[in-house]
Amino acid sequence: MSGLIHRYLHHSQWRCPSNIALVKYWGKRDEQLPLNPSLSFVLRDSYTETSVSLVRESSRKVEFSFEGRESPFAARIEKYLARLAQEAGWINKYHFRISSRNSFPHSAGIASSASSFGALALCLAEIDCTFRDCDPTDPSFFRRASEWARLGSGSASRSVFPGFSIWGRTQLFEAGSDEHAFPLEQGIHPEFLTLCDAVLLVDSSPKPVSSSAGHELMNHHLFQRSRIAQAHENLNELYLALISGDVEKFIEITENEALSLHAMMMTSRPSVVLIKPDSLELIARIRDFRQRTGIPVCFTIDAGPNIHLLSFEKNRAEVREFIETELLQFCENRRWLDDRIGRGPEKISQT
Ligand code: PMV
Repeated sequence: MSGLIHRYLHHSQWRCPSNIALVKYWGKRDEQLPLNPSLSFVLRDSYTETSVSLVRESSRKVEFSFEGRESPFAARIEKYLARLAQEAGWINKYHFRISSRNSFPHSAGIASSASSFGALALCLAEIDCTFRDCDPTDPSFFRRASEWARLGSGSASRSVFPGFSIWGRTQLFEAGSDEHAFPLEQGIHPEFLTLCDAVLLVDSSPKPVSSSAGHELMNHHLFQRSRIAQAHENLNELYLALISGDVEKFIEITENEALSLHAMMMTSRPSVVLIKPDSLELIARIRDFRQRTGIPVCFTIDAGPNIHLLSFEKNRAEVREFIETELLQFCENRRWLDDRIGRGPEKISQT
């Protein structure tokens, strides 16, 4: 992706990780603003690398390639740039060449929209800085990138920071905003900085409901108010667990959030059931292993059937053996992804 960048008028390249939510964002209003606050951590090895080059001055034109090929996402990127041009007028005045690749395979149970929009927003925000003379190492740069990422995909707002972040207004922090996420930089108990995430792939077929259609189901949901209250309460309790090192509470809240997300989907009208029999089998086995061995493992689930098994670095060997001997039989083609908490996005320097 490096190429002859010196020929371009402006160029930026970033690597941005995917993230996994512990307190789930589900339901939105207006322009990608969340109904409730969410809390997630970024992954280390699941990321998108994107480069954006301004080739020449012209009316806005976008060439987009994904892993070296033309991509059906070009139309979504075009729409996204048209929206961002309302924030940054220069976007309408250039021919863009954008290329992107993921470190993880397609349908690997990792949402690629968070890392993709995170990486793209970082590139665009950095180029924007050259027009406005701002400092791309300043926290305000990352806030702006988070806001721009959010306009592409809500959960992407949480991908542009290291470790844990919160997106959405909360009673806990003045920094909490519906417009952008912010990082939980200090005070996290060291145990939680060793979190591992094993993504157990149950079914890789395309989702029957897009995430936008899923969020919409919360608009008239009978449990909407109680779900919002629950997310606030869970976020408060989870934050306390993260700073105090309360692993038991962490497990309780994390599993409650995952199952509440799916309960909301199942009780929507129309109803959506994304979880599969093998997902439930994995949940039962994870709980049984925890009880039997006392090893702190738990699960979280996104809007799909795949199970994220969370554990700590110190138990890596036992958990790996558990996965291989007991869990892979319930995974599609015995596939899983071995990931862990990461350090956030990285700027890729020109070569
Ligand atoms: O960012 P979206 O619109 O793809 O929504 C993501 C929603 C969940 O993954 C289910 C939860 C979350 O907070 O990431």
